[in-house]
Amino acid sequence: PLGSAFDERGRLLLGGCDAIELAREHGTPAYVVVEDDLRTQARAYRSAFERHAPGAHVSFASKACPCTAVLRTLEQEGLGCDVASGGELALALNAGFAPDRIHLHGNAKSEAELVAAVEHGIRHVVIDNGDDVERLARIAAERGRVQPVTIRVTPDVRGETHDGISTGQADSKFGLGIDETRTTIDRVRGLPALRLDGLHFHIGSQLLDLDVFRRAVAAIAPLADGLDEVNLGGGLGVAYTADQVAQLPSVEEYVQVKVAAVRALIGDRVRISDEPGRSLVGRAGVTLYEVQTVKRNVSTWVAVDGGMADNLRPMLYGARYEVQVADRFLAAGSAGTACRVVGKHCESSDVLVADARLDDPRPGDVLVTPVTGAYGYAMANTYNGVPRPPVVFVGDGRSRVVVRRERVEELWGRDVPAA
Ligand code: LLP
Repeated sequence: PLGSAFDERGRLLLGGCDAIELAREHGTPAYVVVEDDLRTQARAYRSAFERHAPGAHVSFASKACPCTAVLRTLEQEGLGCDVASGGELALALNAGFAPDRIHLHGNAKSEAELVAAVEHGIRHVVIDNGDDVERLARIAAERGRVQPVTIRVTPDVRGETHDGISTGQADSKFGLGIDETRTTIDRVRGLPALRLDGLHFHIGSQLLDLDVFRRAVAAIAPLADGLDEVNLGGGLGVAYTADQVAQLPSVEEYVQVKVAAVRALIGDRVRISDEPGRSLVGRAGVTLYEVQTVKRNVSTWVAVDGGMADNLRPMLYGARYEVQVADRFLAAGSAGTACRVVGKHCESSDVLVADARLDDPRPGDVLVTPVTGAYGYAMANTYNGVPRPPVVFVGDGRSRVVVRRERVEELWGRDVPAA
């Protein structure tokens, strides 16, 4: 990640801190976030939008890393916040986001979530289905409020990504199809407790080919007449592995393509908003592990002290990551030891990197998996009674814990003792 380099002994530095020392000081596994990289990405988004679409509203899709320090940092950088539940709403408010910079998503919003959104006066509730309309109108009317909304449209386009994170196809649990959107626009316009501001689409995540955004804008354009805003839903991928680097568009290209599509197909007047998640935080984060054992049978198994509990992505999406020994990165051209880096959990599919090449891995080595800042901490769990790792911010050669490691007592902290 940006902000990382090597010292004269070839040891990895993260935000100026020695990765081995970070592992010693904070324990492993640990999520490490290079604060400067977070800020740099946030600024890249803000400045690209300022140049191409002045006044655009950029929010962080907080599901990618719902941690207060990350939220605060991005709030300071002037971003808004996209939340997908009452819990994420509470996190965003607690982190300091003004309600008028928050919007609420969800394909199954509860009464309580809608009430919280209205009572806090958030910027937008994103309508996902007809029931949202009726419930939200009643809740707002009962409180004498007018709630601004956008409508999530399913444009029926398919980006190239894993099925599990593809959402723009007609047969999706998210959003409303083109025809239902048309009738929903009329319905919302007839309800005095709701104010229709615009449309929204999110067609999928980890997208590397920008053309799909142009197709999505083209699909919703006929619906946008007279509306103030269109939210383009984030979705830009990150390069998890070296072979993806060449495929990855820059933030600049991504913004330029999206804005050009809106200007050409919808018009100059409409306000643009976007809500990237992964591409804001992914590259800023790495995970540190310690090797516990190296075993050889048909394969060479390098087993670490974390795994599917701190990074579900390989298991859920077949996601590929790179991995290195933090003080012995494999020299270019060297074959190294072909191995499988696996976790400590009781499942054969608990594989972090199936086709790793490491420089002579041995117990005690600190391993690093780059680009784990998005959807790692967010989806962490305590399977096999493994407490969740800390989040450590690094910068200018200093580190600070922003989420402490879960304590083992917390594993039974919610258990109600039998009488
Ligand atoms: N907006 C909406 C409505 C979304 O559902 C999402 C992501 C985003 C924005 C942000 O998309 P991004 O810029 O991060 O692509 N757990 C999966 C990713 C799930 C994405 C869910 N929605 C993974 O680890 O790949």
